[in-house]
Amino acid sequence: MTASATFNSVSALVRRETSMIYDEGKEYLVEARLAPLAAAKGLPLESYVARLGVDVVERQKVIDALTINETSWFRDHTPYQAFTDVIVPALVENRGLSRRLRIWSAACSSGQEAYSIAMLLDQHLPGDWTYEIVATDISTQMLERVKAGRYSQVEVNRGLPATSLVRYFTRVGREWEVAERLRERVTVRHLNLAAPYVGLGTFDMIWLRNVLIYFDAETKQDILRRMLPMLQLDGFLLLGSSETTLDLPADLSAAWRRDPVGRVQVHRRASAPPLDLSSTTSPSSPSSPLASTGA
Ligand SMILES: C[S@@+](CC[C@H](N)C(=O)[O-])C[C@H]1O[C@@H](n2cnc3c(N)ncnc32)[C@H](O)[C@@H]1O
Repeated sequence: MTASATFNSVSALVRRETSMIYDEGKEYLVEARLAPLAAAKGLPLESYVARLGVDVVERQKVIDALTINETSWFRDHTPYQAFTDVIVPALVENRGLSRRLRIWSAACSSGQEAYSIAMLLDQHLPGDWTYEIVATDISTQMLERVKAGRYSQVEVNRGLPATSLVRYFTRVGREWEVAERLRERVTVRHLNLAAPYVGLGTFDMIWLRNVLIYFDAETKQDILRRMLPMLQLDGFLLLGSSETTLDLPADLSAAWRRDPVGRVQVHRRASAPPLDLSSTTSPSSPSSPLASTGA
């Protein structure tokens, strides 16, 4: 196989298995990330790639190596502010009977998003309420990390307020471990967002952040169409700061309503009841819910 045939073969594999687009120009990235896997098998890169078609274990390793897992605690801050100021109060108002929330961290990476949500629910849900966070990703390596709930000092330094570190983490060797009472609320599942969503149930809220950017328009549309029935009628969807539903075909764009909450657009099903913003806390107020995390 030539270098270009090797790249094309990996690019096609990644697209087939994850729907992520690896365009020309990313050759350096593929080589840098796959060279250690090939070396571990004692093979030149070309021969290693040629074997991937028949080796499911190495294929998963390649997917793990090529997913972009960039994440941090309370990433972008404002979505979490909208969550505590508006979304949690609205859901608490509407779920008085079940006293339970179900939240989906879709494309959870190493779990900072899921555990950031868990910390806020721990503080802002009434005492007799409970919650489940379903954390899914296509990378099995990332899911193992979520399950372990352990983070290095460098990772902890990326957005985790000192007050939250003290409150929710224990030092284990050189790492920090998330408290068991948060870990037991996070269910981990392997899921390809571009494949059917079987047996997940419905959610009060979906966090689908910083993953749609890796897909082509068709895949993005397909995902956002299939997410609609996954959300309760009065539920909430949050996208990443550079992701939007405005560029969807008219019918699908209209199926998602965009409600501004502070500085973020919260997405809701078109038939969702209007949001009552009258009793929300100002994001800049010292009594703002995120203030207690120091975030
Ligand atoms: C940049 S991270 C985003 C993490 C987190 N949501 C955040 O905003 O910080 C993107 C994640 O999407 C996952 N991913 C990529 N393609 C996927 C797919 N087809 N299905 C599920 N997850 C996928 C990657 O493994 C990676 O962990």
